[in-house]
Amino acid sequence: MKKILVIMLAVLMLASVVCFASCKKEDTLTVYTEAGFAPYEFLYEGEIVGVDIKIMQAVADKLGKKLVVEDVNFDSIVGAVKTGKADAGAAGITITAERAEDVDFSIPYSSTEQYVIVKADNTEITNMETMTGKKVGVQQGTTSDFLIDGLIKDGAMAGTELTTYDAPSLAAAALGTKIDAVVTDKLTAEVITASSNGAYKTFKLTKADGSDVAEVEQYGIAVTKGNKELLDVINEVLEELLANGSIAKWEKEYNDLYSTVEE
Ligand code: ARG
Repeated sequence: MKKILVIMLAVLMLASVVCFASCKKEDTLTVYTEAGFAPYEFLYEGEIVGVDIKIMQAVADKLGKKLVVEDVNFDSIVGAVKTGKADAGAAGITITAERAEDVDFSIPYSSTEQYVIVKADNTEITNMETMTGKKVGVQQGTTSDFLIDGLIKDGAMAGTELTTYDAPSLAAAALGTKIDAVVTDKLTAEVITASSNGAYKTFKLTKADGSDVAEVEQYGIAVTKGNKELLDVINEVLEELLANGSIAKWEKEYNDLYSTVEE
């Protein structure tokens, strides 16, 4: 009798654990981001806010789920989505062929180009050639990181010293001391510069002859490969938000809000 009770109890406990895990997963939408990337995601009064959070809140609302946003290192997001640890990655993630081998991407919701940030009094660095041989900072695992790393390796920027940081703003904070230039996505470069009280300036990364160094990039939300159910809802929400101008509106709003954040 005692034995049966113990077994019953064990079964009950197991069932509740299973339910806890699966029930919990069923009513929450877990999104990974890296909150050092205004206006798409940044910390404001202790909370993660921004365009990507607004988008994912709209997705969670449509699904009737609670949104859970986790702030992690940018270069761990695609891996976490790949293994299903996160339901989605929303972090101004550029859609690339390499990443698309690991995760599925939504329709593009924003586009960007690579920008350079230098100290306002730096008259030397104005393009790729004048940045060559200097010390450049990027956010670890981003398209800026891959671009500059590739240019160094293929000889176009030979001799350049590349340092990776956890966030573009941390790289910017090292300008003038440890590094000479930061390369990051356009809007992020612009908000960092705008909130620098005139300490920095920013410009598009081009070659000396004015031609492009890199292609225009598109942002997508990443989901676990094959999670069509979630991807369909994300795409539906994005289509609505693009059509009614919400995304462009939020880009501006969070741009303005970031400028009020004390660094
Ligand atoms: N668009 C770039 C990339 O995908 C940078 C994104 C950085 N995002 C962030 N939340 N820190 O590599």
